[in-house]
Amino acid sequence: MRTQVAIVGAGPAGLLLSHLLHLRGISSVVLEARGRDYVQKRVRAGVLEQGTVDTLVAAGAGERLLGEGMVHHGIELRFGGQGHRIAFERLVPGRAITVYGQQEVVKDLIAARLAAGGQILFGVSDVAPEGFDTPHPEVSFTRDTKRHTLHCDYIAGCDGFHGVCRDAIPAGVLKYFDREYPFGWIGVLAAVAPSTQELIYASNERGFALHSMRSPELSRFYLQVAADEDIAAWSDERIWAELRARLETVPGWQLSTGPVLEKGVTAMRSFVAEPMQFGRLFLAGDAAHIVPPTGAKGLNLAAFDVTILTEALAAWYSGGDRTLLDRYSAACLRRVWRVQQFSWWMTTLLHTFEHSDPYDRRLQQSYLDYVCGSDAASTSLAENYVGLGPP
Ligand code: APR
Ligand code: PHB
Repeated sequence: MRTQVAIVGAGPAGLLLSHLLHLRGISSVVLEARGRDYVQKRVRAGVLEQGTVDTLVAAGAGERLLGEGMVHHGIELRFGGQGHRIAFERLVPGRAITVYGQQEVVKDLIAARLAAGGQILFGVSDVAPEGFDTPHPEVSFTRDTKRHTLHCDYIAGCDGFHGVCRDAIPAGVLKYFDREYPFGWIGVLAAVAPSTQELIYASNERGFALHSMRSPELSRFYLQVAADEDIAAWSDERIWAELRARLETVPGWQLSTGPVLEKGVTAMRSFVAEPMQFGRLFLAGDAAHIVPPTGAKGLNLAAFDVTILTEALAAWYSGGDRTLLDRYSAACLRRVWRVQQFSWWMTTLLHTFEHSDPYDRRLQQSYLDYVCGSDAASTSLAENYVGLGPP
């Protein structure tokens, strides 16, 4: 088997890269460990920056997104018994976010790839990227008990945080930067109409809570819990009681409840691997960096990486110019670190830290007040949240 770019992983990064390359006349094969059904049903984040929406629409994978995605022009920060709206239309005119589930993006991209004759091999195992420090890289893998080799010009490691590509790079080449948070999130999907028009980020002594949504009939919630929390300890009743305690803190505001469709614990972590390239292997998305979900940036950052990689590969294939390929890592990392700082900051601002002393808590309250009371501070939050423009 031979292709121009071998892509490991059919998450948003791998699928979008494959489709963007196809639109530039560059062939690729996507190798995915899981089945199609599994990747399409995996519930993940759901906030798209305008730039991500534009990229998906321009790639021809945005029809359902434009029809079903919910465009939001603000978010609410709720604390101290009050809601404070961060008004995008006033602070960052013309810019908004679209609420649309990541698994819907994945479904749309798979459909777009297959309609264009794209090759996605689901359910492969023992994927091994090799020879990427030579002009002839290859990826070997097992499919239907047989071993295969995919020869290629470049390998894109889009296999997420737990993938194999990053670890295939020789020891000592990459530098790692990370931070673990002393808490996790329980994520809940419920069959109930959202109790709010816009997302609510609630800072509360009992811990952070987030009210998000997927559609007029589906709500998505998150609760700050211990990092090693056992989901079995969280009955649906307990989840609703805790969401009420953390969200019903504004006079007259009530939370509607309904059947819980799915719940699970997510770890909170910040992580960056530098550089995002070695020889002919390029890392993109969660394979290279992770952010805590408080800033809603993971998927958007993955989309940004593969847009940069597409431009770089297109310049190489069309005229043999490798300048952009050489600059790939630096171009991505600039954005990666902006988003790292923003996601860390939102997390620190809104969560309860068990060991924080009264002084830390007063600082946090003061910063929350400042962010909501000053246009300079809320504009900073707003412009990072809706997404900074192209590099
Ligand atoms: N071989 C083949 N595929 C693999 C392997 C492997 N060894 N390891 C992992 N994969 C697949 C996973 O099953 C998954 O489908 O790679 C894919 C990686 O997808 P994501 O984890 O969704 O990562 P990415 O595409 O970078 O998207 C980033 O996803 O995790 C969220 O919050 C994150 O929204 C962000 C987005
Ligand atoms: C979500 O809807 O899943 C979501 C929204 C905002 C976040 C994180 C997750 O910050």
